[in-house]
Amino acid sequence: MNDADILNELIITAKAKFEQSLTPADLENAKAQFLGKSGRITEFMKGMAQLSVEVKKSRGAAVNLAKQAIEAALNERRQALANAELEKQLKAEALDVTLPGRLYPLGGLHPVSLTLERIEAIFGSMGFDIAQGPEIETDWFNFTALNTPEDHPARSMHDTFYVEGGTKNSPNLLRTHTSPMQIRYAVQHVKQHRTLIDAGGRMPEIRVIAPGRTYRVDSDATHSPMFHQCEGLWIGENVSFKDLKFVFTDFCRTFFESNDLVLRFRPSFFPFTEPSAEIDIQFQSGPLSGRWLEVAGSGQVHPNVVRNMGLDPEKYIGFAFGMGPDRLTMLRYGVNDLRLFFDGDIRFLSQFQS
Ligand code: DAH
Repeated sequence: MNDADILNELIITAKAKFEQSLTPADLENAKAQFLGKSGRITEFMKGMAQLSVEVKKSRGAAVNLAKQAIEAALNERRQALANAELEKQLKAEALDVTLPGRLYPLGGLHPVSLTLERIEAIFGSMGFDIAQGPEIETDWFNFTALNTPEDHPARSMHDTFYVEGGTKNSPNLLRTHTSPMQIRYAVQHVKQHRTLIDAGGRMPEIRVIAPGRTYRVDSDATHSPMFHQCEGLWIGENVSFKDLKFVFTDFCRTFFESNDLVLRFRPSFFPFTEPSAEIDIQFQSGPLSGRWLEVAGSGQVHPNVVRNMGLDPEKYIGFAFGMGPDRLTMLRYGVNDLRLFFDGDIRFLSQFQS
């Protein structure tokens, strides 16, 4: 084989090797085999050492041409690999600017919170104040002040956790209802108007609702150890059961956005009211129509309770009620398992966002 053939063959194999290189690293390795220190072109030039000057000249020129051809092939392949890499990256990071923007959910209120807001808005519009009280209560406010002394059988339905603190006679506990707020609120109100009351003036009426969390040892599809209640209290010199009926009927019809709804006051017993009644509602149409559904306890505030508010029961009279916002939420949205509200499952909860 003459020199020209050898060089041509070198060029061809180099090109082939470069084509076979699929990564820049492979390509650099292939380059070393031809143009590196011990590459084949270099070896070829070493062999020329003993040749005459003329031969060296002509051969040298041929070798240089071959070297240039190999370098050109190398650069071409380098560029091709770089283009392929860029192409790949562009594909991977492709942005479709015609896609609609992504929505980030804002979160929203819990269905029971929506109900509480609704209750507050309705009673607020009827002139009721809205009060919040402690979830850790004392025995006094939760029971005794509400005409439920230590040995009263009604306590057995209000089993709860007793927690540290409080006094021996009035230990701390997780409140079992919002009724203690009747006393707490009334005592503050009376204190504020004491001078007026003592002077025989006309005390502004007590008209308040107190929504919040309550606790009992209870757990099934319709009872949760933590649940909500909303207390209502209206005390004045001339507040009667008739007012309770009117206020609660008006509330229910507004809450459920339906006049197709009747109420029943069913005689019952609570230590802190006399007489007492459970309030049942009945829809006249719709999926629940015809069934009586219990929504609240109520009654005329017991004289002993009025006394514990710091008022004379001969002069002041009124009514109270305690309703279950969880129950109202279930009825309003047609949910049949209370536990769904407290599982924190976003798929369930997000259905209530408007
Ligand atoms: N606190 C009572 C309960 O949890 C409900 C209740 C009944 C509240 C009668 C009242 C009321 O204010 O007058 O069972």
